[in-house]
Order: sequence, then structure tokens, then C-alpha cells
Amino acid sequence: MDPSTHVPQEKVNILLVDDQPAKLLTYEVILGELGENLVKANSANEALEQLLRHEIAIVLIDVCMPDLDGFELAAMIREHPRFRRTAIIFVSAILMSDLDRLRGYELGAVDYLPVPFAPELLRAKVRVFADLYRKTRQLEMLNSELERRVENRTAELAQTNAELEQRVEDRTRERESALAQVHEMQKMESLGQLTGGVAHDFNNLLMVILGNLQLLRKRLPDEPRFTRLIDGAMQGAERGATLTKRMLAFARRQELKPETIDVMRLVVGIEELLRRTLGPTIQISLDSYHDLPSIRVDPNQLELAILNLALNARDAMPLGGRLGIAAERKSARNGPGGLAPGDYVCMTVTDSGTGMDEATLRRATEPFFTTKGAGKGTGLGLSMVDGLAAQSDGAMRISSRVGVGTTIELWLPVSERTAAETPVSAASVPGSGRCYRILVVDDDLLIGAATAAMLEDLGHTVVEATSGARALDILRLGTKVDLVITDQAMPNMTGTELAWLIRQDWPHLPIVLATGYGDLPNSEDPGLPRLSKPYRQEELAATIAAVFDANRAGSDGNVISLEAMRRA
Ligand SMILES: Nc1ncnc2c1ncn2[C@@H]1O[C@H](COP(=O)(O)OP(=O)(O)OP(=O)(O)O)[C@@H](O)[C@H]1O
Ligand SMILES: [Mg+2]
Repeated sequence: MDPSTHVPQEKVNILLVDDQPAKLLTYEVILGELGENLVKANSANEALEQLLRHEIAIVLIDVCMPDLDGFELAAMIREHPRFRRTAIIFVSAILMSDLDRLRGYELGAVDYLPVPFAPELLRAKVRVFADLYRKTRQLEMLNSELERRVENRTAELAQTNAELEQRVEDRTRERESALAQVHEMQKMESLGQLTGGVAHDFNNLLMVILGNLQLLRKRLPDEPRFTRLIDGAMQGAERGATLTKRMLAFARRQELKPETIDVMRLVVGIEELLRRTLGPTIQISLDSYHDLPSIRVDPNQLELAILNLALNARDAMPLGGRLGIAAERKSARNGPGGLAPGDYVCMTVTDSGTGMDEATLRRATEPFFTTKGAGKGTGLGLSMVDGLAAQSDGAMRISSRVGVGTTIELWLPVSERTAAETPVSAASVPGSGRCYRILVVDDDLLIGAATAAMLEDLGHTVVEATSGARALDILRLGTKVDLVITDQAMPNMTGTELAWLIRQDWPHLPIVLATGYGDLPNSEDPGLPRLSKPYRQEELAATIAAVFDANRAGSDGNVISLEAMRRA
């Protein structure tokens, strides 16, 4: 609504004050033409009453009135804050001196009309003040409307501003959290690369140390002093190898040998070991749901993972408690983010231990993060479990509450195949006892020499090559070779590439691939028998035996699959 069109039509109230009704009637007649509202009062008291009751624009006062005269009434009107701006016009037939007039103006009158006056004059004067009042009111209304609009606009602006600030804040927070995630991923990635690289090199060195110690132990005279020392050194090297394996697991670069297994059968298989490890104060319960599907995972690594989780639980329950291991079929929809759609076996390891606070929980899977103090924990346990789950196309999820306990979920994809009754591990394959000529290919002289020494100790004859090209040269020279054992990670030509070239010209020559870490994606698996570093002499012997046994059993050429090896 536009006040400028509305206000001018509004009538204003004009109060006429005179003790003589005849005079009031005269004013009424004169001013009636103006079309305004006329309010009459016979006395000062009545005038005050009317003033309080109506919104009066102009007061026309007769100066001479009994009781309270016009001046006194004017003084009282002016005193009231509401009437400070009401126009007062005095009318007088008696008090007409300059002094009277001066007093009138002093009391705030806007005009002083001596009687008799021309009716037009009174009308004109009253009209001016009525218009003035209306204009003032109009201005006031415009002003307040303006103020209201400014207020609304300010409020709108403030709201928009607040929303904008909120949005900026949200965006900043989102950005910060995304950046933190990227940073975390980059950190883990670099840590993985670093750890994986270091572990790979250590793995090779440990393999040399272990191989040579094993041979030394055989060749030294049976003197307890020597054997004790060598056993000590071998134990140290083996612990180093375990640590390296955990590092490789975290880096998702460990050599996995997945098999189709029944997870609860595996857990039952290590139940006794768990009981012994956790001691009598920790009560272990195993729960499995019916028709639990098989999963495809490296059983040895899964056992190690469960053991790591159980050890963490033990450390969190120094005064004893409960450890529950359960497995259930679940859909990826209910699992941790990043899982491919499908069905999984969700295995849970729950303890009633101390639990983890927020900060610990956030960093628990970080490699080398431990709260157990120097020398007590390596901080690689959960990293290993997390790495194994990820490398097996699954995931790990932790939930923990301080004082209540911790649950670790391991989600592993359901396998289409059913578990074999009793998986046969490579180590249990008996050696054939025959001697062969073996070409050992490794760019690392130390490793080549250690492998050669172990093979020679087994009675085989060894030809060594330090690269794929050298190995091909040796074969092309017509050197008689029964088997090739080649390293995978070599510069210029990898083990897989070498194997492919050998197959072109010598399709029946068996090849074994020695891999130190998972640099061979499953998709590129050439189907060759594998040896994972660091390997011991028994493993070397078992693999060779499996290769020749399988060959005799009539596998297709020299391509011997892992399954064939396991069946052997
Ligand atoms: N079940 C658990 N209850 C309470 N805290 C846990 C639990 N599991 C892990 N943690 C916390 O997470 C940290 C990291 O665990 P992780 O297994 O990676 O290393 P660690 O146990 O400290 O060392 P290591 O496994 O080499 O002995 C632990 O130090 C501990 O603070
Ligand atoms: Mg641990």
C-alpha cells in the first residue's frame, strides 16, 4: 500500500474549545466547509479529555474561559509529550494586547486571532495547519515505511549474508576434509611405497642370510656352540622376515597365495593356538552361521591376521575378558565404503577390552602407529590386516568404545567355488630326490649365489645368469637345462617376459617364478609355479619336486598351474 495516495484523504481532527456554545457553533459553521472532523469542548477540562481520546491536529482555544483559561490549558497541553507538536490557535475578543499575544506565542501557539475576524481568515489558517499536520503525518508514515523496508532489507541481507557465510564455511570444511583425505591417502600411498620398497630389499637380503645360514648349519661340525649361534642368527633373520612380510602386507604388495576356504574351519584350526596365546583369563567363543559360503583368500595370511587381531585383543584385556570370533554372510551394501557390490563373508573379532579413543581409532591402521611403547609393538598388526583385506578385494572396519571394547570386521568376497577339503600346502610336498641341471636367473648376485648354493646342496647342478638376456644366451648355446628358476623383478626383462620367450623355443622346459612381492597382478599371472621370497631350502626342494611330479602326471607342456601343484 502506498501511503502517499492514502493519507491525503484522511480527515484530521480539529478541537474547538470555548465555554460559550454559540461561539462553538459559529466556529463549527465556519470550519465545516473544510470537511475535517470537528470535536467540541465547553471547558479546558473537557478539552483535555478530548485530547486524550482523539488524535487532534489543531486546537482552537478561546483565551477567556472560567476556571482554567486558554493560556493555562495551552501550558498543560504543551507539557504532555504527545501534544508537543499539536497546533494551538488562540482566539480572543478581550486580551488583544501585544503582551497577550506574546504570552500566547510563548505558550506555543501557532497563531493568535483577535475577534472579530473574517471567517475566510480562520478557515485559511486552519486549512494551512490541517494540511501541514497531514503532510507531517504522511512524512512520518513514509519514514516509518522506509524504516520498515530498510529493516526488512537489512534483515534479508543479514540472512543472505549468514547463509553465504554458512555456505562458505561448509565449503571450506568440505574442502578441508577432502584435502585431509587426499593428504591421508597420499601419506598412506607414500608410506606404502616406502615400506614396500624397504621391505622388498630387506626380503632379498634376509633370503641370502637365511639361505647361507641354513647351508652353514649343515656343513659345520655338529658342535652345540656353533649350532646355537647359527640357530640364534636364523631366528633373528626369520623374525626379520616376518616383519618384512607385515610391511609388504601393509603396502599391499605381499605375495598372496589365495585359496578357496571355509573361514570358520580355518578359525577352528587355529583355536588351540589362540587359546594358548591368549591364556586362561581370556574366554574365547566362536560363532558361525549356517551355510557360510567359501571365500578366496590366502589362508596363511588370514591366520596371521586373526592372530594379530587376537594379540591386540589380549593386549587390550590385561585382566582378562572375552574374545568372540564370528562369521556371517552379508551384502556389500551394509559394508564399509569402497566395496564392490556383491556378497561377502563378514568376519568379526570382538573383545571386551579397553577400547580406543577417537585419536587412536583414527590412526590405528597407520603403519608403525602403536600405543604400546618402544620395543613392545611395531604398529604393523592392523596395517597388515587392513592391507590383506584390501589386497583380497575386501575391507577392514573398526568400531571401538573406550571401556566397552573393540570389534574388527573383516569383509572378504564370497567365492563361487567351494572350499577344498584339505588344502595341501607346498611345504608338505615331498621331494623327488632326483638331481637336475637348473638355470638360476637373478639380477641380484647375492640372491643368485644363495639359491645356487641351496640347490647344489640338494645335489643339483646350477648354471647362473644375471639377466633374462644372459639366460636366453645360455639356452641358445645349447646348454642342457632341466629347469629354469627366474626372479620376477629384473631390469630390462622381467621373469614373466623371459618365461614367454623361453616358451617360444623350448616349450617343454619347466620354469619357476621367484617373486619377492606382489608385483605380479593376478590378471597377469602366467600360470607358472611360484616361489615366494625369502624361501628356504625345503620350499625350494618341494617346488622342484612338484614341478617334475606334475610334469610326469602329464600336465600340458611346462605350464603348471598352482592348482596342479597343490593337487600334486
Ligand atoms: N583390540 C584393540 N583394543 C584396543 N586398542 C587396540 C586394539 N587393536 C589395536 N589397538 C590400538 O591400535 C594400535 C595399533 O595396533 P597394531 O596392531 O597396528 O599395532 P600394535 O599392536 O601396537 O603393535 P604390534 O601389532 O606390532 O604388536 C595399538 O597400539 C592400540 O593402541
Ligand atoms: Mg597389534
